Amino acid sequence: MPSINVALIGYAFMGKAHSNAYRQVGPFFKPRLTPRMKVLCGRTPAKVRAAAREYGWEETATDWEEVVNRKDIDLVDISTPGDSHAEIAIAAARAGKAVFCEKPLGNTVPEAERMLAAVTKAGVTHMICHNYRRIPAVMLTKQLIEQGQLGEIRHFRGTYLQDWITDPKFPLVWRLDKKQAGSGALGDIAAHSIDVARFLVGEIAEVAGDLKTFITTRPLLDNPRKTGRVTVDDASTALVRFKSGAIGTIEASRMAPGRKNYNRFEINGSLGSVAFDLERMNELEVYFEKDKPLVRGFRRILVTESGHPFMKPWWPPGHIIGYEHTFVHTVYDLLEAMADGTVPTPNFEDGVRNQRVLGAIEKAAARRRWVALNP
Ligand SMILES: NC(=O)c1ccc[n+]([C@@H]2O[C@H](COP(=O)([O-])OP(=O)(O)OC[C@H]3O[C@@H](n4cnc5c(N)ncnc54)[C@H](O)[C@@H]3O)[C@@H](O)[C@H]2O)c1
Repeated sequence: MPSINVALIGYAFMGKAHSNAYRQVGPFFKPRLTPRMKVLCGRTPAKVRAAAREYGWEETATDWEEVVNRKDIDLVDISTPGDSHAEIAIAAARAGKAVFCEKPLGNTVPEAERMLAAVTKAGVTHMICHNYRRIPAVMLTKQLIEQGQLGEIRHFRGTYLQDWITDPKFPLVWRLDKKQAGSGALGDIAAHSIDVARFLVGEIAEVAGDLKTFITTRPLLDNPRKTGRVTVDDASTALVRFKSGAIGTIEASRMAPGRKNYNRFEINGSLGSVAFDLERMNELEVYFEKDKPLVRGFRRILVTESGHPFMKPWWPPGHIIGYEHTFVHTVYDLLEAMADGTVPTPNFEDGVRNQRVLGAIEKAAARRRWVALNP
């Protein structure tokens, strides 16, 4: 099998998840291109070396600019905070590399647009890591909608709740700093709900929004006796109108005690409904009007049959998969697109469209009125 050399920038949460995906994708999915885990890049030499040993990378580096310009690198994977996405992606595209970037694409709409322009001009493969699209139950929802089994889609209700910053003593990490993260719960987790909404229901035409920061100062990470200002939202809510005529709500919070990674959506159509919850990601709740009246009701499908999307290479039915598998599926489709010389979805175009929705929600919240998205 021909192989491609991967450079991964960033080695913490997503760095670990992506490394695992590169290791697993070959044995299970047998892509036409085998990813070779060539170089891991971070800022602190000892930490990068330790991570490379742990995850299985051949080499380490601390200068991403040098790495993305190396002749032997084919794919640059950006798993750093949002403030470095644009610079790295644009440099990688200019060097002719395929680019795989974590979400949100950039920290602002103009940044995301510049990234899209760079990959388009270079003619390279590009993808954004909205991995939740590739959950078998989410793909099954897409199939049900495309087959018309839910009828005309009327409602999308997306809720993404976490609770890791409810403690006021939780420090001022990069995710609470606008300069580094772009926004708070909005760009961090509502961005995923927006992607799923766009994937399943279509483009968003108009939004109204609200942002709230409940805890406005927090202890500094390196000096807990001092505090600094939180410059992003703790929670965001939005009303959305889709181009199709459907309406929806998208709510995200990192201040919902007890909710760990409660990424849920419900879709109601004229002929039926579906409901999904990431914390039970192997299941999809479905309701069909066509079922016989006295036995009609929501039922739970265990989405682990070999005919379900992405399930065949894994285990026998009922042998469930987890969070990390979503990255394996994403990386598989990226590698196949690279083999074909095409651009998979979601790509930087999706990243820009997502970023415009994030920007519109921020604008709507600031102005306290509806904001239309340009076509
Ligand atoms: N797809 C998902 O479900 C998902 C989940 C979590 C995070 N993310 C996204 O992944 C990205 C990274 O988040 P994370 O949770 O892995 O963060 P993290 O803090 O766990 O890791 C960030 C890594 O980037 C490195 N880094 C930071 N600035 C850098 C720079 N200028 N040059 C080189 N390395 C740098 C850090 O040393 C660290 O290794 C963010 O864009 C985030 O929104 C996506």
